[in-house]
Amino acid sequence: MKKLFIKSFGCQMNEHDAEQMTGILLKEGYTLTQKQDEADMIIMNTCSIRDKAEQKAYSEFGKLDGLKKANPGLIIGFTGCVAQQEGKKILQRISNVDFVMGPRDISHLPDLIERVARKERVVSTSDDATIAPSRPSSRKDEFKAWITIMEGCDFGCSYCVVPTTRGSERSRPGREIFHEVEGLAGEGFREITLLGQTVNAYGRNLDEIIDFPDLLGILQKIPGIERIRFMTSHPNHVTPKLIDVMSKHQKLCKHIHLPVQSGSNRVLERMNRGYSRGAYLEKVNLLREAMPALSITTDIITGFPGETEEDLKETLNILALVEFDAIFAFKYSDRPNTTAPAMEGKIPEDEKSLRLAQVLECQQFISLKKNRGLIGTAQTVLVEGAGKNDPQRWFGRTDCNRMVHFNAPGSLKGKLVSVRITDGRMASLEGEIM
Ligand code: SAH
Ligand code: SF4
Ligand code: F3S
Repeated sequence: MKKLFIKSFGCQMNEHDAEQMTGILLKEGYTLTQKQDEADMIIMNTCSIRDKAEQKAYSEFGKLDGLKKANPGLIIGFTGCVAQQEGKKILQRISNVDFVMGPRDISHLPDLIERVARKERVVSTSDDATIAPSRPSSRKDEFKAWITIMEGCDFGCSYCVVPTTRGSERSRPGREIFHEVEGLAGEGFREITLLGQTVNAYGRNLDEIIDFPDLLGILQKIPGIERIRFMTSHPNHVTPKLIDVMSKHQKLCKHIHLPVQSGSNRVLERMNRGYSRGAYLEKVNLLREAMPALSITTDIITGFPGETEEDLKETLNILALVEFDAIFAFKYSDRPNTTAPAMEGKIPEDEKSLRLAQVLECQQFISLKKNRGLIGTAQTVLVEGAGKNDPQRWFGRTDCNRMVHFNAPGSLKGKLVSVRITDGRMASLEGEIM
């Protein structure tokens, strides 16, 4: 049996792509290994969202030189968003790579490895604008499954590489998604997460008349599936219809990841986000009016070109105003094929770091306050597993996606249990089983 080692970087969609590559390769006779040094094929599924991610990808391949020398038959694949972005330049830059494959060519993987077996060095980074048909997946989790429902992005934010690496927006037919989720329910999966770069834009450009709220309404009827999550949502596609469907159905988790990026209108405009601070806040108000317990998380970029101290204050202010349940914050990074790098007002690296620290510090208190606010409440937790050293120390996630730890005897993995929250920390909760 040939052995496959595969590692993925970046977002959940990339991780799910790796699950699909694994699914395809298992059919081709490979088995999975966690050890690079015993592998017959090594695939690094790379991410290009920030320069650091891209550099990390290259450094991974540097480490493989020794393995390739020891085993000349070893096949090395460079896949993911950096592969799409750099294409054949990668073969020139890294001599040990046998194939380069972009995210839109995963279905062609068996052909690619056949060509590699004939000693060809292959580059496959097509701009295919069609959506891939259903592919086998070898899923990492036992109870939770990811499903890509749409890919690509038509927004064109001035800092973002995704529209070029993932292409323009396209959605999978509703029927196909429905059958996939039904199949997952049959296999015992209890939670699904619908994935897309702007997941709530789902359904545009499809022949059938279906939008994202329609799809949610249909999927929540499938018996066996207890929870449905989705990410990432774009504020402009948060509609009254979506809010209505989310609040009506219990299986639709009360959590939305809604990146705001900045609290300043000036910066939002330069980012080409397509909404104002006021419009974002309005969406948050509508969501909270309909679902008071909704957890809202966000992404922030600090040090975007031209960002002033005043702009930063606006961002800190929107954090205080909205009181997000959690945030992911990043220093702005120049990306190829984007327009922001040519903008005036570059912020020095150390200043970006200072601003990032301010943003993170501001949020720490809010996250702690929010988590402490849950003390005494009862939460339904989908149990993911137990501690390695203590089999009675369980962990799992609440409906609103918070990690909870609690002690309990028995075998709880994959079960939905009621837990009373006894303590709230910065990034997790402590509870006791009810
Ligand atoms: N589609 C999602 C975001 C996908 S990328 C949306 O529109 O919100 C995930 C996050 O990475 C973004 O929300 C943004 O905060 C961050 N990001 C993207 N490009 C970046 C860049 N050039 N520099 C720093 N952070 C970036
Ligand atoms: Fe990137 Fe903007 Fe599209 Fe999100 S909406 S993927 S940040 S271009
Ligand atoms: Fe990274 Fe590509 Fe995802 S750039 S964040 S792996 S879409």
